[in-house]
Amino acid sequence: MEVLKTVQAVRSFCKEHKNSGKTIGLVPTMGALHEGHISLVKKCKKENNITIVSIFINPEQFNNKNDFRNYPHDIERDLKILKEQNTDCVFVPPEEEIYPAPDYRMFNFGTLDKSMEGAFRPGHFNGVAKVVSRLFQIIEAQRAYFGEKDFQQLAIIKQMVKFINLPVEVRSCPTVRNSDGLAQSSRNALLNPQQRTHASLISKVLFEARDKKDLPVEELKNWVATRINENPFLEVEYFEIADIETLQPVRSWENGNGIIGCIAVKTGNVRLIDNVFFK
Ligand code: PAJ
Repeated sequence: MEVLKTVQAVRSFCKEHKNSGKTIGLVPTMGALHEGHISLVKKCKKENNITIVSIFINPEQFNNKNDFRNYPHDIERDLKILKEQNTDCVFVPPEEEIYPAPDYRMFNFGTLDKSMEGAFRPGHFNGVAKVVSRLFQIIEAQRAYFGEKDFQQLAIIKQMVKFINLPVEVRSCPTVRNSDGLAQSSRNALLNPQQRTHASLISKVLFEARDKKDLPVEELKNWVATRINENPFLEVEYFEIADIETLQPVRSWENGNGIIGCIAVKTGNVRLIDNVFFK
């Protein structure tokens, strides 16, 4: 497994493999790897000759300084995990490799970032787009892998790839969960044992909500928020029921496109997100 730190090194790694006709798949991450990340690596390995995983905690996408400071990292552990998965290359750039000069770009995602994470984390998706577009320019992969756990991020990256006209296929991967239903997340490592136990209520309520479509949308939204807020360890930041294409709130189940329910919940200082498909 090659561990590369510079843009130049990873570019020449890619060039060499492309010249010999190999396909390259990219899995962008911020490290603190878990089974969700590993599922992306496995799918990437299946569909490409060469798998590159990037690990970079992107300061541009953190709208909260404490969240950035506290973000878990353990590079030695991550490298060990990736080696066990027979990853071909890990790109671990220092900040100045990704941002050699300030990046002032402002992206416009239309409706996609006006709700949910976009509304509650101002600038977050602009920062995600900055780093992912750079990664795509550095590593000219045929395919790149993203999780449905971050559904709004996935939608925004798909749109960005379309409007910048990048020759990369964005592949989506289903959410991997713990045995009690809690979506795997790097931030779960920050939960204390009590918070960790109570956090499983989030997915439990989302799954129950899926079977309650006899209720009007607004009522179901209230039902979900109330059930979770009843737990003194959990505080719902938002629960939205949205169109899977526009990510705008839907008013009725008769929506033409698919429907997703997305939630953000705080437990202590840790913010968790999850989602469930309604149709
Ligand atoms: P990170 O949170 O490390 O996640 C990296 C990728 O793993 C993302 O595509 C995310 O959706 C996916 N992922 C996380 N948890 C998952 C789970 N439980 N099941 C399936 N996939 C999961 O998302 C980011 O990093 C960053 O925003 C990034 C795209 C790397 C840009 O900095």
